[in-house]
Amino acid sequence: MNFLSIIEAKRDGQALTAAQIREIVSACVGGNIPDYQLAAFLMAVFFRGLNGAETTALTLAMRDSGEVLKFPTDPRPLVDKHSTGGIGDKVSLPLTPLLACLGFRVPMISGRGLGITGGTLDKLDSIPGFKTLLPTERIPEIVQSVGCVICGQTDRMVPADKKLYALRDVTGTVPSIPLIVASILSKKLAENLDALVLDVKFGRAAFMQTSAQARELAQRMVALGNECGVNARALLTEMNAPLGRAAGNWLEVKEGVACLEGRTGVAPVSNRMQLKMETGATPVLRGDDLHSLVLACAAHLLVQTGKAKSLDLARQQAQDCLASGAPRKKWDEMLAAQGADLDAFAKKLSLDHTAPAMAELKADRSGFVSRCDARLIGEVIRDLGGGRFTKESTINYDVGVDQLLKPGEEVKAGAMLARVHAVDRTQAGSACARLKTAFEISPQPPATSPLIAEVIAP
Ligand code: URA
Repeated sequence: MNFLSIIEAKRDGQALTAAQIREIVSACVGGNIPDYQLAAFLMAVFFRGLNGAETTALTLAMRDSGEVLKFPTDPRPLVDKHSTGGIGDKVSLPLTPLLACLGFRVPMISGRGLGITGGTLDKLDSIPGFKTLLPTERIPEIVQSVGCVICGQTDRMVPADKKLYALRDVTGTVPSIPLIVASILSKKLAENLDALVLDVKFGRAAFMQTSAQARELAQRMVALGNECGVNARALLTEMNAPLGRAAGNWLEVKEGVACLEGRTGVAPVSNRMQLKMETGATPVLRGDDLHSLVLACAAHLLVQTGKAKSLDLARQQAQDCLASGAPRKKWDEMLAAQGADLDAFAKKLSLDHTAPAMAELKADRSGFVSRCDARLIGEVIRDLGGGRFTKESTINYDVGVDQLLKPGEEVKAGAMLARVHAVDRTQAGSACARLKTAFEISPQPPATSPLIAEVIAP
């Protein structure tokens, strides 16, 4: 095959045919194209882009490079959520069992964190005994019996993405919208979904820094998802402050469980006041953003699949289901199906902290939190050992930050802004000093923005 002519065509801005794109993908998986040609192809795509038809062809070729999950006929729709990632984003943890209790099947294939962004699999790895890597055939078995699974992509699923993503990572070609669309959607399409909700984040700690970039990515993913037979919608959400009050692998699992038990959003100390803000018609507490986003994702999927007539009714249905306690039980059921030691998990949950050292960051004046910089907080956690510098790095599951005060909340001088969990006192102290620069306290409450800035539907 003459790959050079395909690379030259893309370099010169020509549209490729679906057959040419399939040739490249199949050569990539078969090891029949050298990395230098693949890298040149990716760079040509980075600069010239791909039109809609080319992006569809690339996505489908990548999906078909490996196994697509197969499920028996069942009245429960197959659904999933994908987030482009951020700090403290543990939505998948409470959302997955909630969706199973709402009558969906959820074959959630998740990833690991790299750099400052966390990964759902890393969070789950902090649970004693839990297995994130399952044989491909086990995934539908657990989905059919439990209703949900959260696991990693197996070697037999979308191998083209593994190869291409690794090359993009070292050739500066990750931030290309068509390559991101194909990478994310090929993996979601391999789950054989009926509906998908995409949480596309923008802001300081997001992959897409501006809402305009996030909107473009969201619109392209929604269009392509629907074209490929998946009812897809996207929520544009801000990622300037962490989601929830905790960031760090185990601390996020604890917060995810607290959400399932209806314990999130409560200000951790009595001198904190919460500011009411609006998302659509429903007022929510800023400290309750995790709970609100979990309900919003579930509500959209209920509407997308025709299981609810309106978003308001759907949100109420999701809220009632969460409050019933059934999703908390479903969570344990999913954990058990994936090998977790439930007694050890319950014991670990009962501990206030599992890292050896703690430090409290105190406010040096009274006022309102006007900045709680997710990027800086992510960098501090990564440097404490909670994130990876390279794919090979090992991580510490216990370090992180919790009891975060969120923008808009009132604080008194001397009260806690956040708590650091570290491997020793020296690291806890220096992390605390760095964390101080992540916060700003102003005399007046800051202007607020909605949790969900926009909904992109087909
Ligand atoms: N996440 C992915 O899975 N792929 C990308 O290209 C970017 C983010």
